[in-house]
Amino acid sequence: MMLGSSFNMKSAVQLQQPLKCAVRMHSLTPAVRLQPALQSARVRGARGMLGALARGSRALASAPAGQGETDSPETVSTQHFRLSPHAHPLNAKPERLTKAAYETSEGDVSNKMGRQQNHIWSREELQDKLETYKDVHTPVEFSDHVMHAIMYYGLYHPFNFITGYKEINPSPRSIEWRLIILESFAGVPGFVAAGFRHFRSLRLLQKDYGWIGTLLEEAENERMHLLVCMKMFKASWLTRTLALGAQVGLTPFLMAVYMIKPKALHRFVGYLEQTACKTYHNIITHVETPGTELHAAWAHLDAPAIAKGYWHLAPDAKWVDALKCMYADEANHRDVNHTFASMEADDPNPYLHKHREDAVKAWKIFEEEHMRKHPEKAKEVAQ
Ligand SMILES: [Fe+2]
Ligand SMILES: [Fe+2]
Repeated sequence: MMLGSSFNMKSAVQLQQPLKCAVRMHSLTPAVRLQPALQSARVRGARGMLGALARGSRALASAPAGQGETDSPETVSTQHFRLSPHAHPLNAKPERLTKAAYETSEGDVSNKMGRQQNHIWSREELQDKLETYKDVHTPVEFSDHVMHAIMYYGLYHPFNFITGYKEINPSPRSIEWRLIILESFAGVPGFVAAGFRHFRSLRLLQKDYGWIGTLLEEAENERMHLLVCMKMFKASWLTRTLALGAQVGLTPFLMAVYMIKPKALHRFVGYLEQTACKTYHNIITHVETPGTELHAAWAHLDAPAIAKGYWHLAPDAKWVDALKCMYADEANHRDVNHTFASMEADDPNPYLHKHREDAVKAWKIFEEEHMRKHPEKAKEVAQ
């Protein structure tokens, strides 16, 4: 089902929530934030786009009622982006998100460049993401309420109790095994969803419309978080048992949810990531606050080499710098999954272009590093 042909006000409101998450992330004016589009515009050096977005954001805030615009600084638009003349906050042009456009750009979207390349965060991007840690989705549908209740009352609060986690001055020990279990579980849903969509594509002889790559990248990203944590902490037999139990116990649940209602699983992951953002933000705040247990134990620690390589951190990067990258990844997963939860299964993935931009950025960094290490090659290229 195409969004463009079937979109109604109810679904517009549902889709608005994750877009609000995305829109709140940056600030062109104090009231309107448009990070993803700004990031994309920066990457491409498209200064004109910034002006267009600024104009679009101001127009959104001042558009008359009845055209789907509201005067609330928290609300972007009640119109779907395909029907709106304004720039999409993800910088995905409406014409690029139709099935017809997807069909005619098959060569472009099937190009493998960019698959599995994680985003390399700049200092400014990290700071902007850190400001979004309170962004949450308010349940709308019945399934949203069910997933919200399972996440917060079935998992988050009991997990806090089991791991002995306190929001104020948490102990390093309570964080260590919490992160290992959290990250070992967080890598499951993306892979489950990618697997189901892969089999669906094969079974129905249909395209996937670009979701699988994003979901696999998310799964790999979470697994990298786990591997980074394993360089910092030792997993006891109890932690290993809990990680195993979480995978064995929860994977069938995730699969069942995806079989019955895929949107509900993406919503569930969106809520999971909200809690992860809250936890990581709290950890980072304490590590950077003298007088806390985490500051005493972690502030002086260097980032492990695996983290420096994965996020291209500086040689003297600290452990807290790696934690900030993990937080930013979780914030990205939160927004992606809330967006997927508001889309139909055969809507083209609006994040496809980001993978390519991530790959181009990574390639440029690699090239610059390579040229610095091998100045003779730089001379050859210059000639
Ligand atoms: Fe993670
Ligand atoms: Fe995550």
